[in-house]
Amino acid sequence: MLVSAKEMLDNALAGKYAVGQFNINNLEWTKSILLTAQEMNAPVILGVSEGAGKYMTGFETVAAMVKAMDKSLGITVPVALHLDHGTYEGCYKCIKAGFTSIMFDGSHYPIDENIKKTTELVNVAHNLGLSIEAEVGSIGGEEDGVIGMGECADPDECKSIADLGVDMLAAGIGNIHGKYPANWPGLSFETLAAVKEKIGDMPLVLHGGTGIPADMIQKAISLGVSKINVNTECQLSFADATRKYVEAGKDLEGKGFDPRKLLAPGCEAIKETVREKINLFGSAGKA
Ligand code: G3H
Ligand code: ZN
Repeated sequence: MLVSAKEMLDNALAGKYAVGQFNINNLEWTKSILLTAQEMNAPVILGVSEGAGKYMTGFETVAAMVKAMDKSLGITVPVALHLDHGTYEGCYKCIKAGFTSIMFDGSHYPIDENIKKTTELVNVAHNLGLSIEAEVGSIGGEEDGVIGMGECADPDECKSIADLGVDMLAAGIGNIHGKYPANWPGLSFETLAAVKEKIGDMPLVLHGGTGIPADMIQKAISLGVSKINVNTECQLSFADATRKYVEAGKDLEGKGFDPRKLLAPGCEAIKETVREKINLFGSAGKA
């Protein structure tokens, strides 16, 4: 069931758990994530970066595939189709394509410009029943060409953006896209607590969910994080399982080269990663 992310995140905030956002790249990713969310009776958010949208030949293709698959798989849990780290133009394209949620990542603009553009997009999204996420501070590292410096968010700037009526707020708290380096100092819970203090009852989003230790995830949820984004970890588990299949020579046995066989171990690995995250985030059984 395709829905906006608002209700699922408000429920998560009230229930002290987090909804997983898992990024999709193709049919296999989408199917694996949808089936696992359904199996676990968990609400889920399918994230689509601008790069992944382009790879899948455009947001219209993505929306058509997700809508059709949601129906053909008989998915009954709430599913939001969400633009991840969207540009201003990308947000309009996804609204037009039929996404149910958007993220406007205006974190690289001066705060006044971020406020101006976010205000406009909040109005447009809400008039059409979509949810909208905004970002303050920046997430470190790189994701699909979006590069962040990783500075912690200013709690007052978070309040200015939250007051515009966004449905969820991504605040940089030392989180990084991709693998965390060995010398990573960890999440800044001081920043998270200060942001929470300023913004009150608004779901917070934790990007860079790959590889954050379980105790930090749980502490972040206890401090108001209601949505956690995971991308790289599914890619790593898919790549690892596929490598093992090929290294074992299974692609050379019988019809092992058939993509439906070749890609199956990777799909199972994505399902296992999504299962682990849904359990860790506490969203199993919350649909
Ligand atoms: O926006 C998506 C993410 O923040 C995912 O980050 O690739 O480090 O899991 P990740
Ligand atoms: Zn992100």
